[in-house]
Amino acid sequence: MGLESRRAGLLIVFEGIDGTGKSTQVQMLAEALRGLGREVVTTFEPTDGPHGRRIRELFTRRDTVSPEEELALFMADRRQHVAEVILPALAAGQVVLSDRYYLSTAAYQGAAGLDAERIIAENESFAPVPDCVLLLEVPIAVGRHRIEALRGEVLNDFEKEETLCRVAAVFNAIRRDYIKRIDASRPLAAVHRSVLDQVLPLLGAGVTNEVRPC
Ligand code: TYD
Repeated sequence: MGLESRRAGLLIVFEGIDGTGKSTQVQMLAEALRGLGREVVTTFEPTDGPHGRRIRELFTRRDTVSPEEELALFMADRRQHVAEVILPALAAGQVVLSDRYYLSTAAYQGAAGLDAERIIAENESFAPVPDCVLLLEVPIAVGRHRIEALRGEVLNDFEKEETLCRVAAVFNAIRRDYIKRIDASRPLAAVHRSVLDQVLPLLGAGVTNEVRPC
């Protein structure tokens, strides 16, 4: 193993199926942490970089690529995200809040037939392990209702009910100490409170996880 660099910041990730309210909770947490005087970077995957844009083009025609090709696109997007956004922010001591990260790849591409644990291992060979993953959980029907009725959106190929059931099953099966499962079917403020309960104890700890350089 090569040189190890200490990281001064914190990496906090929101995960879950579509329609769990991740992006709203990211914003609420960002505001709360800024109020505590922390420098916060909010980010998301798929990114809006070249690979992320290519991924979004596939939203309505997933059947034109194999699961392996799809995986390669998400991995390329993540490599760029890690190198250009996440590692520099952590090195600068900032708190990084990411709306999705590599457990989404494990769950979604795992649901498409690939090996979820192998995907996690491949990601952890270059991507920093999060300090905390807030896994927002809602029944599939609730997520679907939030996408269709509340946002007025049509479900894309990643969001079909059958797919989401498989995705949720993979999320359920992944066991890591850093995963905190939160019932996100409750009102926003209650979910935010549960998020703070998990995150605030991390702030004072002067967290210095080891990361391998890319
Ligand atoms: P999403 O966060 O829903 O983006 P948007 O807000 O633009 O709709 O992510 C898009 C989809 O991509 C989502 O259904 C999950 C899927 N996805 C994967 O399949 N693998 C991954 O590694 C990531 C990050 C997302």
